[in-house]
Amino acid sequence: MAQLTILEFPDPRLRTRAAPVQVFDAALERLIADMFETMYAAPGIGLAATQVNVHQRLIVVDVSEAHDDPQVFINPVILKREGKEQSEEGCLSVPQVFEPVERAERVTVRAQDAQGELFERELSGLLAVCVQHEMDHLEGKLFVDYLSSLKREHIRRRLEKERRERAGAPRSRPVSGWRVASGAKVI
Ligand code: NI
Repeated sequence: MAQLTILEFPDPRLRTRAAPVQVFDAALERLIADMFETMYAAPGIGLAATQVNVHQRLIVVDVSEAHDDPQVFINPVILKREGKEQSEEGCLSVPQVFEPVERAERVTVRAQDAQGELFERELSGLLAVCVQHEMDHLEGKLFVDYLSSLKREHIRRRLEKERRERAGAPRSRPVSGWRVASGAKVI
């Protein structure tokens, strides 16, 4: 397994619309394993293939505290949306930014597993939020797109400034205490 590089906003590759997965083979299984490794190491609770510059319709999630509930959704489609819920979201591609986003409270999703088998599931709570967030990535959409353009521009400038400051200096991890304090999960 290998850790993959996560693209960061405003990288234009994050705006790519992903194509359907058509081949379910060993290479796909390797990609899934690498995506889980990358997500757990980040750490995050969800990762879309788009974020590691693979433009195929594949997302991995694990919202468990113990990292023991890995779930893969390939070619996911939302069949039904119910209710509305606002929660604070973060994203591995938009480091250290947390903002409230409104999404459906419950969704019914149809997808394929790593073997290509179709399944349908009703999701709620954090898992529903996470899957909707990751599915946006497959459309080239980021959670900051739900914010005002002024706010998004401010975030973009801040991240670019931080990236410039980081260049040449040893890369420091984001301040983890900040994440804990915010209570938000990074998806
Ligand atoms: Ni994300």
